[in-house]
Amino acid sequence: MLKLIFIAFIKYLPAMIANGVPVFIRKGTPIDRGKKFIDGRRVLGDGKTWEGLIIGSIFSISIGMVYYIILENKYLILYSLVLGIGALLGDIIASFIKRRLGIPRGAPLPVLDQVNFILGSTAVVKIFRVDELAFMTITLVDFIIILFIASILHVTTNYIAFKLGLKNVPW
Ligand code: CTP
Ligand code: MG
Repeated sequence: MLKLIFIAFIKYLPAMIANGVPVFIRKGTPIDRGKKFIDGRRVLGDGKTWEGLIIGSIFSISIGMVYYIILENKYLILYSLVLGIGALLGDIIASFIKRRLGIPRGAPLPVLDQVNFILGSTAVVKIFRVDELAFMTITLVDFIIILFIASILHVTTNYIAFKLGLKNVPW
């Protein structure tokens, strides 16, 4: 069981990193350049920046380089980058959906907020089949394990942020 969790974690690490590092971008250039959609709401909002996209991609490719050094398979660099870009795309699509639902930037949309990067990274990797190419084939078991890990991590980090006084509510 622990081995299965570890394998799923290794496979999805570039996606988790790509999803996590943009948080450190304080103020960047919005991808939608402040533009509004036909419904009068922002296309994506100020929470989706080019800087976030770039730093996320750089970090995911860095994980790929570490994998390459350890496992000596150059396709792991491509795999990690594609997985990371997929994660970032999933996050952008989720923001697009949130804005269409009238949910402002930063306001929560439970479930979609937690799984967007998993759906995006899995979809893109499966479309281009880079997981098979890199001998990192993502299975349904990996996918389900990561969905669990993502929800547990989300609850944990939110609770810590609450205890530290960074958030007003523990969820
Ligand atoms: N971020 C970024 N660029 C991205 C993704 C994230 O700069 N492509 C940064 C933003 O500062 C963002 C933070 O990471 O506020 C947290 O990301 P996320 O929770 O996805 O954005 P939200 O601000 O919650 O906005 P949304 O409601 O659109 O999800
Ligand atoms: Mg958010």
